[in-house]
Amino acid sequence: MIRCNNVTLEYVAGRPVLRNVNLHLEPGSFTFVSGASGAGKSSLLGLLSLSLKQSGGSLHLFGSDVTDLARADLPPVRRKIGTVFQDFQLLNHLTVAENVALPLKIMGEPRDEIEAKVRELIAWIGLDGFGDVRPPFLSGGQKQRVAIARAVINKPLLILADEPTGNLDHELSMKLMHLFRSLNKVGTTIVFATHDAALIEAFDYPTIYLRDGQLHRTRS
Ligand SMILES: Nc1ncnc2c1ncn2[C@@H]1O[C@H](COP(=O)(O)OP(=O)(O)O)[C@@H](O)[C@H]1O
Ligand SMILES: [Mg+2]
Repeated sequence: MIRCNNVTLEYVAGRPVLRNVNLHLEPGSFTFVSGASGAGKSSLLGLLSLSLKQSGGSLHLFGSDVTDLARADLPPVRRKIGTVFQDFQLLNHLTVAENVALPLKIMGEPRDEIEAKVRELIAWIGLDGFGDVRPPFLSGGQKQRVAIARAVINKPLLILADEPTGNLDHELSMKLMHLFRSLNKVGTTIVFATHDAALIEAFDYPTIYLRDGQLHRTRS
């Protein structure tokens, strides 16, 4: 599913943020990425989502070499990836239903198919009746559930979650984990970055730890 070989990332030449990262994740795996603030978690996820480009090494996703993909070849790979961020990144002028529908709308799916899928997902995240509400009227936990629904509506093979519980208290974080766990149970590969040690302790998923730009496996 994911294979990084000797990946290096530099924002500034000569100052690597990630150094010689080797990572191999199987399809269907759930992996925590931990490490202090500034350790490089978001940078690693940025590489995996193909929004950042490595400075050295190679990257394979979904069995293909994506190290030097041309810009025009990025969208079909990116469509297999769903992303969830700490700050939700919802569009405040759109309703919950419109936010969730966005990826399918961009892909030009027929309107009635979009509506059926959106309804199903809004029920799945427990927000029945909130379809016409705009994000500013939602709590943090509700916003993040909407962001998850939007991330999964086009059935990505891989979900990259960058501190998705960073703005939520522990109880809400644990609730949100149920959504990620149920996605993983149906085969979705999950990479979940968090510096929340209590959350990591609550589950026994493999964990990798970033420090000084290098990756260490702390739990298999
Ligand atoms: N766009 C950027 N330009 C320069 N340096 C950056 C940029 N983004 C992140 N960094 C630096 O890269 C390092 C890793 O950051 P980041 O990947 O955001 O870590 P984390 O997500 O673990 O907090 C930090 O030292 C940060 O300052
Ligand atoms: Mg980060």
